[in-house]
This record gives sequence, structure tokens and C-alpha cells, in this order.
Amino acid sequence: MARYPSAWLDELRSRSDIVQIISGYVGLKKKGKKYWGLCPFHGEKTASFSVDGEQQLYYCFGCKAGGTVFQFVMDIERCSYHEAVEMLAERAHLPLPEMEQDEDYERRRSRRERLLEANRQAAKFYHETLFKPEGEPSLAYLRRRGLSDAVIRKFGLGAAPDDWTALTDHLTEAGFTLDELSAAGLTIVKPPDRDGGKVRAFDMFRKRAMFPIIDMYKNVLAFGGRSLDKTEPKYLNTSDTPVFNKRKGVYAANLLRQQRHLERVILVEGYMDVVSLTQFGVEGVCATLGTALTNEQARLLRRFAPTVYLGYDGDSAGQHAILRGLDILQEEGVPARVLDFPDGLDPDEFIRRDGPEGFANLKSVSAATYRLRRLKEGFDLSTQEGRIAYAREAARVLAPLDPVERAVHLKQLSLETGFAPETLTEQLNLSPPPQAAAGTPRPPRPAPLRAKKEENTPSEGNISAQETLLGLLATGQLPKDMISEKDFDDDELKSLYRSLVSGQSPASLVDAAPDDETHSRYARILLSPSAENKDQMIAMANQCLNRIRSVDLQKRYQSLMQQISSLPQDSPDIPAMLMEAQAIRKKLGEIR
Ligand code: UTP
Ligand code: MN
Repeated sequence: MARYPSAWLDELRSRSDIVQIISGYVGLKKKGKKYWGLCPFHGEKTASFSVDGEQQLYYCFGCKAGGTVFQFVMDIERCSYHEAVEMLAERAHLPLPEMEQDEDYERRRSRRERLLEANRQAAKFYHETLFKPEGEPSLAYLRRRGLSDAVIRKFGLGAAPDDWTALTDHLTEAGFTLDELSAAGLTIVKPPDRDGGKVRAFDMFRKRAMFPIIDMYKNVLAFGGRSLDKTEPKYLNTSDTPVFNKRKGVYAANLLRQQRHLERVILVEGYMDVVSLTQFGVEGVCATLGTALTNEQARLLRRFAPTVYLGYDGDSAGQHAILRGLDILQEEGVPARVLDFPDGLDPDEFIRRDGPEGFANLKSVSAATYRLRRLKEGFDLSTQEGRIAYAREAARVLAPLDPVERAVHLKQLSLETGFAPETLTEQLNLSPPPQAAAGTPRPPRPAPLRAKKEENTPSEGNISAQETLLGLLATGQLPKDMISEKDFDDDELKSLYRSLVSGQSPASLVDAAPDDETHSRYARILLSPSAENKDQMIAMANQCLNRIRSVDLQKRYQSLMQQISSLPQDSPDIPAMLMEAQAIRKKLGEIR
């Protein structure tokens, strides 16, 4: 395994000025110390995309895309990390370095990389097995489903043989430990039973056609395995692992990334639907990974195309999922339409019946049209009560629309219910803000970003003070010893603090972030703060420190008060506690 020497990467970063490179793709205007423009990764009308020449980082406050020049080139050119590095090196006339051949590297490599490598080799094993006698049942199955060899190769489909240990044996021979294989979800490991039996290990996937789940950067994250007969479950999926979170990715992200200038992404329910539509030449198709659409996935899709088409099954479960999906897309501000599959067919069945022409002619309807149609089904419009109730509910759907789209629907609604458009408009104004009932639009709410991590921390304000402090520290303008590790109580922030103090550059820290979410978080934190000069920065840092310390003091104060109130009134401990409490109040007063 080889890698670029880190000193060379630093050199390349410093020769590839991020402002200059991004200006080649995005119109930028200088405002304060940063440059601002319209984000190229999601549709927007006001600039929330910022480029920081000082720290050599970019960050979009709208879609949270962010990183260094390498990440930008990867995302805008939709290329791999290595391709981005080579492209920038060529541009900077910097010869590619001797790759570092490090014998210890394999051993030291982070767990994440080991698991990804195990997955990659598993995918290769399954794919090769497909064309061997042991893979024949799976190959026959995929062919029976109408898949061509070309599309089988494109998706890297494979076969898990009818064998208890084929993959586990293969990968342990290749040097992976059972612990790694089990962490990757490839092998099930049973501890020894009490009467001295041995550890038993067997393959997670057996006798299944295999669909590798590959991310934008071509990492194999997980697998879905389709049973070849009536065995349940129909699809067996890798559970969440250190490298795989089914709520965050989509199936076929690797192909989406290669398809430039997509006008729309089509989100379908099944792996097979993706493969089949792609075989018939449909572009931009992907699927969720065995769960309903999540907010994270909606944000991810927004990076590939301006509009998302929901192509869910025509059966009733699919139809219900559409309403939920539309809600999520609306929450994330992603324009959406719905594809109408007739006769309860799923996309795969439909395109096989009606061909690519049939698919091209398939009507799509706007989110509002779809919602109104579904709503209407629940009311009896032949009665006055039904029409009134329908009009009321419909007003909720129309409330958030832009005036033009609303006018079109009002006209239609007036025809259906017999109420004059003016009456309906009045109802519209009366309508309470849309509620979170299934199928009615919700007001956008802030993304639940990092909600989990913050559960154990005192308060959001405190975390944001710590983050600001790190941004200030990263400028190198704060006096030495002004802050210390004690000021941070979040593990990620503590480690960021240590790395900055040890002299690593903000850009290199962002590049080294372990996953997409941390990557985006680091880029945001390490962006230059808005302070103009050193004095302002120090003042800002002091404010943050006060905030952090006062939150700690307040916590201590509250816990003291609680303790006091739980003690008997004549407890001998009370006076000392009261004194401490008083001292805290005094300190808090000083800080404020
Ligand atoms: P469907 O049951 O609609 O299957 O599940 P399908 O895509 O039409 O599959 P074929 O055509 O019968 O092969 C849709 C998706 O739901 C998840 C999978 O992601 C599947 O692609 N699923 C379904 C599971 O994860 N497990 C299951 O047992 C079934
Ligand atoms: Mn199907």
C-alpha cells in the first residue's frame, strides 16, 4: 500500500490556491476576509458558499459541503481522491512524488481502512465467484431477471456460494482477522461454548446474489444479498458497521457521481430497480438502503441534481412511502416530483413491460399535485361535508407553494369543490401553519446535525463557543497558553485542539477527517473567524472562554443547590456548600 508523503501534500496544497481554483468554477465576490458565491453543489439563489483563502478551506452554510481544494476538485469533477491530487499536481507543475512504501503502514492503517479493504476484497471475491461453477445458481438467477453481462459488471454484482466458510476462508488467508471480518459484517463469529468448543466463524452471506453498496469515492461499504428462492429475508443487508450507515448513503452513489449535469435524480425502492433502469439506459437512478428516505440522504441527493423524482413502487406501501419521502425532501428544501407507475408495477417490472420508450413517456407530477390527489381519495366529494373538509385540508398543502403554482391548483380545487377561488384563498390565509401529519407539507426545520454528539454536553452554546475557540486558535494569532485542553469537553474537539497545537495545518486536518460528517464539521470549525485583527480575535476568544467557564460554573452551582435542597435542614455540610455557591455567584458576576 502506498500513499503520498504528507510534506508533499502540504506543498501541493500551498501551490494550489483554493480561491483561484474555485473561481474557475464559481463566481466569487470578496466580502470581509472571505469570498462568497452561489454553491455549485446545491441549487440556491443567495450566496451561502464561502471560500477562505487564509485557511485554504471552503464551506457552504446551506448544504454543509466543505473541505480543502482536494475535496472541491473531487466533488466538482466527480473524480477520486487520487485523480484530484494528480490533476492539481499537473496544474501546479509539481512532479508526482515517490510514493511512500511503508512496511508498517498495513499494520498501522486505521481500522476503517482495513474494513474497507476487507469489503473491497469481498466484493472482488463475490464477483469472480459469479462466473465460476459455485456461482452458477446466482448467475442463472440474475440472467433470469433479464440482466446483461455488461450491467452485471457495471454494478459489480456477485455470488455468495452455497458454502458456510468460503469467503471467511478466503479473507483470513489474505491476512484479515476474524475480528475485522466480523466488524465489517462479512463473517458471523460465535464465541466458544462452555464445554471447550472452538470459536466458530461462518459467512454472513450464503447462496445469494450479491449487490455491493459503493459510495461516491468508490469505497465498498456494505452488501445487499438477494435470495435465489423463497428464502427469507428476500434481501439480507449488512447491518451498520464502523464504515457503513444505511441511513446516510444511497445505492449506486458511485455511478451518480460519474454522471455529470444530471437534470434529475430518480430515487427508487429496490436495488434491482436501479440495476434494471440503468441497463435500459436511464441515468441518475439510485435507491435507499432498505429503509425509508432520511434527511441525510435527501441532502446527499441534492448534491447530484437540482430535482429528485420519486420512483417508488405502484403498490400501496410504495404510495405511502412517497408521502413520507416528499415530506423529508421538503424539509431539506429539495424540489421533488413523483413518477406514476401504473398497475401497481415497480420500476423494474414497468420498464421490462413498456421498454425505455414507455419509461421516457411516463408522466411525473409535482409534489403538490400528488399530495392533493392522495388527499382527495380520503374524502367523499359528492357530499357537502366532504367537499368542505377536502378544501380545508387542501389549503394546507397549497399554503407553502409559490403564488404561480398555487394559482393553478386553486383553480382546479375550485372546480372540484364548487367553492369560488376567493373563498378558497380566504381559507388559505386562515389555515394554520402546516403540521407534521403524514402527507402534509411541513415547515422546514433545522437539520438535526450532530444531535447525538451533543446529548451529553452541557449546552449548544457551550459547544459553539468551543468551536469558535478552535477557529481562532487555527489562525495562529492567539497568545500561547491562552487556552488549554481543559476548555474542551467534546472528544472530537479535544483531539482537534491537540492536533492544532502540535502544528498541523487546518487544511491537513480537514483532509484527514475520518468520515464525511466530521469532514464537513472540521471545515466549518476551522474556517477563519470573522474578526478583523489580532485584538478582535483575542477579545472573541475571551468571550468564548467566559462562556465556557460560566456554563461549567452554572452547572456546579445548580448541582450544589440541588444537593442542598435534598439534605436535612440541619445537615453540617450545608454551610460549606453555601459558601462555595456564593463564591461561584461572585465569579459568575465577574465574568459577566
Ligand atoms: P422489494 O420487496 O420491493 O423488492 O424491496 P424488489 O426491489 O422489487 O426486489 P425484487 O425485484 O423482488 O428482487 C425493495 C427494497 O427493500 C429492501 C431492499 O433494499 C430492496 O431492494 N428490502 C426488501 C430489504 O432490505 N429486505 C427485504 O427482505 C426486502
Ligand atoms: Mn422488483
